[in-house]
Amino acid sequence: MNIYRLLMNKQKFAAILLLFTAILVLYSCTQDVLESPLDQRLQIALDNCAPSGNHRDFLLPQSNDFQNIPQDPKNPITAEKVALGNLLFFETGLALAPFQEISKSSFSCGSCHVPTAGFMPGRPQGIADGGIGFGVNGENRDKYPSYDEDEIDAQGIRPLTQLNVAFVTNTSWNGQFGANGVNENTESLWSNNEETALNFHGFSGNETQNIAGLDLHRMVINKTVLDTLGYTPMYDVAFSDYPVEERYSVETTALALSSYTRTLFTNEAPFQNWLQGEHTAMTDQEKRGALLFFGKAGCNTCHDGPALNAMEFAGIGVQDLFEHGGLGTDVNDKKNLGRGGFTGKEEDMFKFRVPQLYNLKNSPFYFHGSSHNTLRDVVQYFNLAIPENNRVPESQLSSFFRPLLLSETEVDDITVFLSEALYDPNLERYVPENVLSGNCIPNNDPFSQIDLGCE
Ligand code: HEC
Ligand code: HEC
Repeated sequence: MNIYRLLMNKQKFAAILLLFTAILVLYSCTQDVLESPLDQRLQIALDNCAPSGNHRDFLLPQSNDFQNIPQDPKNPITAEKVALGNLLFFETGLALAPFQEISKSSFSCGSCHVPTAGFMPGRPQGIADGGIGFGVNGENRDKYPSYDEDEIDAQGIRPLTQLNVAFVTNTSWNGQFGANGVNENTESLWSNNEETALNFHGFSGNETQNIAGLDLHRMVINKTVLDTLGYTPMYDVAFSDYPVEERYSVETTALALSSYTRTLFTNEAPFQNWLQGEHTAMTDQEKRGALLFFGKAGCNTCHDGPALNAMEFAGIGVQDLFEHGGLGTDVNDKKNLGRGGFTGKEEDMFKFRVPQLYNLKNSPFYFHGSSHNTLRDVVQYFNLAIPENNRVPESQLSSFFRPLLLSETEVDDITVFLSEALYDPNLERYVPENVLSGNCIPNNDPFSQIDLGCE
């Protein structure tokens, strides 16, 4: 009856018809944006690669969605631990066991894991104790003149990032930390070495490595130190389930640090926004690069999952840090052996963990030995597949390390996908304004203070 009356009123009918057409036109326009052939092809390619058949498998969690963040059941993530770990990670006031008195209270975890450099050092090697200066992204840090090479705190391998580290069950380039995952049934190896003996505590990789790291990086944790700096009330809230005698310890500190680092996701990168359905977040070139990455170039054979990493070890024959400016390391450094340096097994020699691929461009020192300085060089290295380290026998190279026959344009497209689409421009959200000591962060030596504008 109503409709009949409407139809009778021609004016109204025309108006409704117009509105209807307008909605139809608008709808088909938005559909066009969503269903450009490139977006469609990429979505299909990603669906095909995803374990559940849906491209959303590649989405990183939100930092406050604790339930969906991979974590150690022995160290459930809480807001209190994250808040504490966030400060401790940058707290130069914990640097109380330097080799020379002059470096006291001058370094932190953030000295080698610099937020503006994608939580990498911004130079080929990280230097904490015995380093001086910062620059903009860590690039001007150097050895303190009064230190000898073997007195500084610097490892014989390039630091790994803290970004997306929740997706790493066994940490370090050789995966030696963590009681479970790929280290199941490696117990017989743990007591060989002070660091891996920590695996007997039964924690996951991050928690275990951070227990080791506090000591290795010359930091001092006890009630007196934490009282002086003002942290004990935060420990009381975060670790109320620990008896007071065990509350202000290296272990609780490592658990808080791990809770914090497990929330460091690059979930504002264009590729992540695209996966959420915002198809204009990536340029056509980046989309073509992504299609190659997940298709013809086969990068996802190794770089997989939300962090584009893997708990697998592969040999691609790259050079070591002593060849690229590393101090305190040489051809005999055990770190050069990769997984084999931990297991001692012939089959594991020269194989390194498959790292994540987000926010690489602000610390342009790629591979475990910092042997390449542009992402294009890295892509070209995979494309040509000519090993650069003649100490690595051919038997140890991955069968997927073989010429890809990509054109120059295709190499460019993959490079842009890596450098732009996998780049979260807003990592400042993970850095505290201040730490409780009031010291300069992440470094506090006189040159860094100037560089960081702390004076
Ligand atoms: C002197 C530089 C330096 C400092 C300071 C430093 N790190 Fe690291 N970090 C490294 C290096 C180098 C590696 C890689 C080590 C390896 O693979 O053998 C690394 C690796 C890691 C990893 C493993 C990441 C992964 O994907 O496997 C974690 C976790 C970590 N560091 C946490 C910390 C924390 C927490 C602190 C502060 C307590 C800290 N680091 C201080 C240099 C440093
Ligand atoms: C056979 C497995 C494998 C394949 C296939 C593979 N990668 Fe990798 N990728 C690795 C490993 C292992 C490393 C670390 C090697 C090392 O440093 O010793 C790495 C390192 C990298 C790095 C440097 C990361 C850093 O932190 O320094 C980039 C960038 C990268 N890969 C991109 C790609 C791209 C792009 C492709 C496809 C063209 C690709 N990878 C294919 C295993 C692989």
